[in-house]
Amino acid sequence: MSGHSHHHHHDIDWADRLAQLRMADRLDADALTPAARRLLGGLPARPVVVDVGSGAGGMSVLFARELAGGGGGTVVLVDATPELLGEARRAVAAVAGGIVEVVGVEGDLADPQLAARVPRADLVWASGVVHHVGDQQGALRTLAGLLRPGGVLAIGEGGLEMHCLPWDLGIGRPGLEHRLSAARAEWFAGMRAGLSGSVAMPYGWPRALREAGLGDVESFGALIDHPMPGSDLLREYVVHRVGWLAEWVGEWLDPDDRATVAALIDPDGPDFLGHRDDLYLFGAKQIHCGRLR
Ligand SMILES: C[S@@+](CC[C@H](N)C(=O)[O-])C[C@H]1O[C@@H](n2cnc3c(N)ncnc32)[C@H](O)[C@@H]1O
Repeated sequence: MSGHSHHHHHDIDWADRLAQLRMADRLDADALTPAARRLLGGLPARPVVVDVGSGAGGMSVLFARELAGGGGGTVVLVDATPELLGEARRAVAAVAGGIVEVVGVEGDLADPQLAARVPRADLVWASGVVHHVGDQQGALRTLAGLLRPGGVLAIGEGGLEMHCLPWDLGIGRPGLEHRLSAARAEWFAGMRAGLSGSVAMPYGWPRALREAGLGDVESFGALIDHPMPGSDLLREYVVHRVGWLAEWVGEWLDPDDRATVAALIDPDGPDFLGHRDDLYLFGAKQIHCGRLR
């Protein structure tokens, strides 16, 4: 991560987040495999699946794996960050097994003309990206516009925030993680307010999907549960995540908590998180989907 100017204009350098996205993809794969299977379940043979805001490509890897084990199909990756798009293409192609076609499209979800550049889809998946667009309801309309009749739009938004730290870390005031979450909520509100064309969407995702013209709307969850003592990957991810939170939401923490967080992510200090054997990852992702009639 570079620079404190981020705090003021809220622009996220997505390419910079590749390492974290990749680790999260690996940690989430077990929980999201049944979700991928469920979403592909009702689709026609050799479906076209479009993943908008595909990031490091984790969910599309799961889609491609399922399709490769069945009759094949097409996975289209759409992302505004070329570095991530390249990574995702590579990751998905590696499991495509020759019977899944992999296509990459550099495109922006805030572009109402996106549909002109993307093949019609049987399933559109968009996780963690709609909330980065100023007009979220408009973005859902754009996503619904990528569907064939009968196609399904599924978004990954909301859920339960990941927890990874013990209540009492033995340094600073207990309950740090709750205050990090509260600070993150403040950051999020500022990030949303700073997006161009930002408009309020004063209702929840299922209603937003209905407003976008979809029917059969339903929501379900995926539990992310990596209990202690955890793997090296988990420890690395937690250190990365807390470092990221420190950089982005630090200004909403009090000075004591800021000092605690700095000690937790200092690899040379005695309180470094990377030396702990009591980290974990526990949270849930919510998935909302609806069908174009
Ligand atoms: C939080 S990441 C989510 C990645 C992945 N879908 C996941 O759930 O882990 C957001 C992704 O959306 C992309 N992105 C952000 N704004 C976008 C936009 N307006 N249009 C297209 N992609 C966008 C970023 O490049 C990044 O890959």
